[in-house]
Amino acid sequence: MEQPVAVKSPARALVELADVVKAFKTPKGQLVACDHVSLTVEQGVSVGLVGESGSGKSTLIRTMQLLERPTSGTVRMNGEDVTRLPEPKLKPYRRNIQFVAQDPYSSLFPNLTVSQNIMEPLRIHKVGDAKSRPLKALELMQRVGLPADYFHAYPHELSGGQQQRVAIARALALSPQILVLDEAVSSLDVSIQAQILNLLQRLKAELGLTYIFISHNLAVIRLMCEQTAVMYLGRIVEQGESDSLFRRPMHPYTRALIASIPAFTAEGVTPLPSESVLTGERPSPTNLPSGCAYRTRCPFATERCKNERPELRRVEPDRLVACHYAETLAANR
Ligand SMILES: Nc1ncnc2c1ncn2[C@@H]1O[C@H](COP(=O)(O)OP(=O)(O)OP(=O)(O)O)[C@@H](O)[C@H]1O
Ligand code: SF4
Ligand SMILES: [Mg+2]
Repeated sequence: MEQPVAVKSPARALVELADVVKAFKTPKGQLVACDHVSLTVEQGVSVGLVGESGSGKSTLIRTMQLLERPTSGTVRMNGEDVTRLPEPKLKPYRRNIQFVAQDPYSSLFPNLTVSQNIMEPLRIHKVGDAKSRPLKALELMQRVGLPADYFHAYPHELSGGQQQRVAIARALALSPQILVLDEAVSSLDVSIQAQILNLLQRLKAELGLTYIFISHNLAVIRLMCEQTAVMYLGRIVEQGESDSLFRRPMHPYTRALIASIPAFTAEGVTPLPSESVLTGERPSPTNLPSGCAYRTRCPFATERCKNERPELRRVEPDRLVACHYAETLAANR
């Protein structure tokens, strides 16, 4: 299979997924949650992952962290192939990618104080000692804007936004290069969301972090990520520089995703033709259509789409698209 080339010119690659497949055996048959995915995350270039529920975003991240071993393909971290490293040897790589979940309360230990929660990764990874860890916790609390008074507080005594600050501080404890944020602001009130996004932008600048953002909120992705990858049924169907991708989506699925959010299209994104609004049922992931998996919902599908699977290919210097007709569709908008 032809390998899509990374969209950006060589910067420092932190993680490289090459042709990664992750298949699960289910009672209904084999389910390919990640289908020949290649993705490079470069230092300082945050990546947004978008796509409907079940498109494989979380599986992709779990495979990247090697919490799930890929069925085939390779995972490289900082240049080293770690795909088949035994568990104990993965520890130093794992700590480099930290995760912030959607619901801060359930991701924190309720019986541990704020500082104990933040120190937990240090304890697990045997970093520092009884003297240095509380100082580190205090420093991280300051970094994420939590008053020192909360040092001995319990998570239930905090607001949702404050709990998410604790979760972010904990994720930063081991000084990772990458922070994965899976719907990390979606359970918060809009005003609190904005505060957390501001905090994340500041931390990115201060600490040189690279984010992988998963969100159904495309405006958040556009704000926070230099690159965006759009997934459909386990595959990346479009990838490119975020602002350009949202202004001028080329894959019919990306067009439909954007068109289905009126507030977002009103925000300076070129209005899309009504036929590109997302319609129809998502096919069963254990019984995918032949050819292009999107063809059952695509208003532009032809006989060729039924017979031939479109590979993810470069159609512009900064754009990869998996559609036979990407150029024609983009020209006729
Ligand atoms: N351990 C597993 N065993 C079987 N199927 C799985 C497993 N994990 C994920 N899947 C399936 O893989 C597909 C992708 O799931 P995944 O959770 O990665 O999607 P997602 O894009 O993160 O969705 P959401 O937006 O709802 O979080 C789904 O069809 C899901 O049911
Ligand atoms: S390859 Fe065909 S079915 Fe698939 S997105 Fe393009 S036009 Fe639609
Ligand atoms: Mg998910």
